[in-house]
Amino acid sequence: MSVLAIRKYGDDVLRLPATPVDAIDESLQKLIDDMIDTMYAAPGVGLAANQVGVAKRLMVIDLSVGKRPGECHVFINPEIIESEGEITEEEGCLSIPDFVEIVTRPERVKLRYTDRNGTTREMWGDGLMARAMCHEIDHLNGTLFVDHLRGFKKDRILKKIAKLSKSGMWF
Ligand code: NI
Repeated sequence: MSVLAIRKYGDDVLRLPATPVDAIDESLQKLIDDMIDTMYAAPGVGLAANQVGVAKRLMVIDLSVGKRPGECHVFINPEIIESEGEITEEEGCLSIPDFVEIVTRPERVKLRYTDRNGTTREMWGDGLMARAMCHEIDHLNGTLFVDHLRGFKKDRILKKIAKLSKSGMWF
């Protein structure tokens, strides 16, 4: 297993709508293992495949960051089939390191997805899990959390990133 480079804001692959996974083969299993390693190394609670340069509909989430067994979830071709409520909390992204901002998300979402063994499953996520599910699915659609911001909050982050890029401290 290996830790992959995480693409940052400004990399075109983060803006590509990811295509469905059509085969759960050996190379996909390796990508899943590498993504989990990469998420833990970062450390982060979720990672989408396009964040490591692969525009496929695959994401991993582990709210315990590898600390509690059974909490690592692999979602292949995930889709939100139900959502309830609304909650506004701070959110960040491994592709936009060191920035957090308040984003409104559903309080609960139900995902339909395929697991790494090829079984179709459904799972409800609440609170932080719902937020992570929505955030990672956004990635698969080429959307980043800053796209949910407006006005001053958005400008502030984008200006700081532009400054860091200019001084060679972003990529
Ligand atoms: Ni992210």
